[in-house]
Amino acid sequence: MKILRTPREMQQHAQALRAGGRRIGLVPTMGYLHEGHLSLIRLARKASDVVVVSIFVNPTQFGPSEDLDKYPRDFARDERMCEQEGVDIIFYPEAGDMYAPDASVCVVEENLSKVLCGAARPGHFRGVCTVVAKLFNLVLPDIAVFGEKDGQQLRIIERMVRDLNFPVRIIRGPTIRESDGLAMSSRNAYLAHEERRQACLLKRSLDKAELMYRELDIRESARLKESIKKAILHGPDARIDYIEIVDDKTLASVEVVDRPCMIALAVFIGKTRLIDNAVIGGEA
Ligand code: PAJ
Repeated sequence: MKILRTPREMQQHAQALRAGGRRIGLVPTMGYLHEGHLSLIRLARKASDVVVVSIFVNPTQFGPSEDLDKYPRDFARDERMCEQEGVDIIFYPEAGDMYAPDASVCVVEENLSKVLCGAARPGHFRGVCTVVAKLFNLVLPDIAVFGEKDGQQLRIIERMVRDLNFPVRIIRGPTIRESDGLAMSSRNAYLAHEERRQACLLKRSLDKAELMYRELDIRESARLKESIKKAILHGPDARIDYIEIVDDKTLASVEVVDRPCMIALAVFIGKTRLIDNAVIGGEA
């Protein structure tokens, strides 16, 4: 396994691989890897010859009062996990090498980014799109894998690839969960014991809404959202950031689930902001 640390080294290496006819698969991450990330690495392995995992806690996608400084990091552990998964290359750049001090060009998605986490975290998706576009230009992947756990991010990246004609095929990876249903996330490390117990309420509330939709044929968003809210507020440390039911493609709010929709949640448990989602209303 190679570890490449500079954008220039990465790009030159990728160019040589492509010249040799190798298909490159990219899994972009911010590190502190868990089974969710590893599942994406396995999907990349199936679809490519050379698997590149990028590990970069991207400063431009964090707001000024967010957790950039305390975001968990453990490169030695990440390295071991990648080695065990048979990753070929870790791209592990420094922020100072990724962004010129006077960098002034970025990628802005103007529609899907306005709602949900985009409304709650201004500038977040501009940071995500910009760094992913840069990673595509440095790693030159044929395929890139993104998790459904970050449902809005995945749809925005797919839109960026379509609208800017990136020659990259996006593969969706299903959400990997702990045994009580909590979606795996590097940020779960922030949860204190009692908070961790309450964190499973996100998935439980989604399951309940799905059941109401499927078994009881309840289609009004308002009723489904009310049930989710009630389930989540069972947690004494839970504070709802948003609960939305949106069209799976446009991410516009829907009043009635009469097409594929995404139920999207962002909930603070104590100080930790967790997100989760489920798709209902047919195969999206
Ligand atoms: P990060 O949160 O590290 O996630 C990296 C990738 O892993 C994303 O595609 C995310 O959706 C996926 N992922 C996270 N938890 C998952 C789970 N439980 N099951 C399946 N997939 C999961 O998302 C980012 O980093 C950044 O925004 C990034 C795309 C790297 C840009 O900086």
